[in-house]
Amino acid sequence: MTKVFRRRLAGWTYPEIVRGEGVYLYDREGRRYLDGSSGAIVVTVGHGVPEIAEAIREQAARLAYVHGTEFTSTAMEELATELTPRVPVDDARLFLVSGGSEATETAIKLARQYQLAKGRPGRYKVVFRWPSFHGSTLGALAISGRPTLRTTFAPLLLEMPRIPAPYAYRCALPGCGPACSLECAKALDATIRAEDPDTVAAFIAEPVIGASAGAVVPPADYFKIVREICDRHGVLFIADEVMTGMGRTGKWFGIEHWGVRPDVLTTGKGLTSGYLPGGAVLVKGEIVETLKAGGGFQHGFTYSHHPVVAAAGVAVTRYVERHGLVERARVQGAYLQERLQRLLDLPAVGDVRGLGLMAAVELVQDRKSKAPYPAAARMAQAIQAEALGRGVNVYASGGQVDGAGDLVMVGPPLVVERDQIDEVVAVLGDAIAAVTRT
Ligand SMILES: Cc1ncc(COP(=O)(O)O)c(C=O)c1O
Repeated sequence: MTKVFRRRLAGWTYPEIVRGEGVYLYDREGRRYLDGSSGAIVVTVGHGVPEIAEAIREQAARLAYVHGTEFTSTAMEELATELTPRVPVDDARLFLVSGGSEATETAIKLARQYQLAKGRPGRYKVVFRWPSFHGSTLGALAISGRPTLRTTFAPLLLEMPRIPAPYAYRCALPGCGPACSLECAKALDATIRAEDPDTVAAFIAEPVIGASAGAVVPPADYFKIVREICDRHGVLFIADEVMTGMGRTGKWFGIEHWGVRPDVLTTGKGLTSGYLPGGAVLVKGEIVETLKAGGGFQHGFTYSHHPVVAAAGVAVTRYVERHGLVERARVQGAYLQERLQRLLDLPAVGDVRGLGLMAAVELVQDRKSKAPYPAAARMAQAIQAEALGRGVNVYASGGQVDGAGDLVMVGPPLVVERDQIDEVVAVLGDAIAAVTRT
């Protein structure tokens, strides 16, 4: 029996993966799996790229570790030089961490300290959206709209103001019809006013919502309105680009699709393409200067600003640039989105949506009423298992309908070829048909 404390304690048979190459993973028995979701929408440059591995090896051999309060490193300086001109944040500065949840925690504490430094000590609340996901740690979970992940920990979660996300497929806001009335964006203004602007530090949102709602793309003017509301009330806008960053949606960062510049941008996943645990917080220069004048930034981790993570980030960023993977995500992404539409022929598919190489299929028990399957049926996981048995890995999620609801996310590495996209879509369709056939 395994001694590994696994993520899934029951109901899942784990293939043991020994090797990855491009979009493929290989298990001990030599079976091949097409990684149609890059794990949890993580891998950008593909598996097993020798130059990324070599950059990590080389950095670890030369300098594995220094503490971020004592030293900087050449790799850290290089990553800041590579990354900051690419992010849509004014005069951006980089705070490197070890993952998306750490990035969210950093952004929350940053917002609080910035408001203090500005002489606004009453401001601490972070307005978040429902559904949404910003991380598993308790601070990040407190501002994540994911009922399935929150319920168990409810007594531990700080109460924070929430607004509805622009989730058009299930929007029930009064005044919203077939054409979005942007009531969801206006709710931010009403909520900040109701809470008292002098208590609100920041608003956080994923440009395209990840696994909590399934690749939900906002209406065209949404982020412009959100930006204006944040400015009006002196509230920081944090764009959570942990999933959408580093080219995934066909731009370096997802928020660029709407020409809006956040004050703080978090990223992770694609930053290191899964080669090492990594995350980043990119912060407007004016905020960092304010903190500096106000006595500094009281926050950090043992592994913040880690030289080997930085080297992985540099190697990935340069690889994405050199191979034109952002443009590739746009082109291959348009193909993926178009091919996925054919799954709407299946009665159990309620909606198909996404942007670039980030897509999701929402499953319903009844297409007309949009009623989800009961949570206990674990349909998304059953489809994931069925697809895996047929050689394709997809990412199961859900819970977006008061804890019920099934989503399957698709997001292959950005190096994916068209015939591989065809295979992912075909196998996913077969898996959905097989599992939902009654
Ligand atoms: C949008 C978003 N933010 C934050 C996180 C948390 O990142 P991590 O799992 O690296 O801590 C995730 C992870 O799925 C995410 O999708």
